[in-house]
Amino acid sequence: MSEQESEKKSRRESIRLLFTAALVTLPISAFGNARPPKACKKVGDVVIYKGKKFTCVKINKKLVWDKGVPVKEALPNKSATPTPTQSASPNPSSSTNSSPSPNPTPSISSSPQAPVKVLFAKSPDVPRDNTVVINGKDQYGRPLSVAFTRTQTSLIALDASCTHAGCIVRPQGKELACPCHFSIFDSETGKPGNPFQQGAYPLSRLEVLEESGSIYLLLN
Ligand code: FES
Repeated sequence: MSEQESEKKSRRESIRLLFTAALVTLPISAFGNARPPKACKKVGDVVIYKGKKFTCVKINKKLVWDKGVPVKEALPNKSATPTPTQSASPNPSSSTNSSPSPNPTPSISSSPQAPVKVLFAKSPDVPRDNTVVINGKDQYGRPLSVAFTRTQTSLIALDASCTHAGCIVRPQGKELACPCHFSIFDSETGKPGNPFQQGAYPLSRLEVLEESGSIYLLLN
């Protein structure tokens, strides 16, 4: 090879290297294609910029964004947006109507019955300042013993069944005594005379009515 030809070859090689270097160093935007301002750091990275999808590629050992491909802008999916509906919200008025509140109605049977007037004795059977026990029957015809005490101003009737075990008490002065276990009760109040006795509860007071020489009990 002549010296002239060698010089030409060297010049062509220099031009080619300069051209290649110019291509590499020119910014890609110089080609009229806007690239993402963000640096491309890894091959395969993807970024969306100005309606295009850019992928990171390696050209001449340098990482650059490719020319990009247009992407369709994602439209909001109306069906994906939850829309509150009125049916989802609780409706207190309808629930109040649908759940009837219990309204107990008082029954006639629970109301107190009118007392039954039962003829039990004659007025002379209970002398004044005396206590007597009279055996008779209640409004259902069942046996009933009643201790009557007539004071100066009133007539008192007590159930004569001992509150201990049901024995019939007997008059004993101004008291009523139980023959079974010797409990003592006040003949006017029915209260037990001794708190430590067997019959610890008072005798039941009965409603009594005296009219036209007869003694009636008003029994429920
Ligand atoms: S039954 Fe009257 S004291 Fe026992």
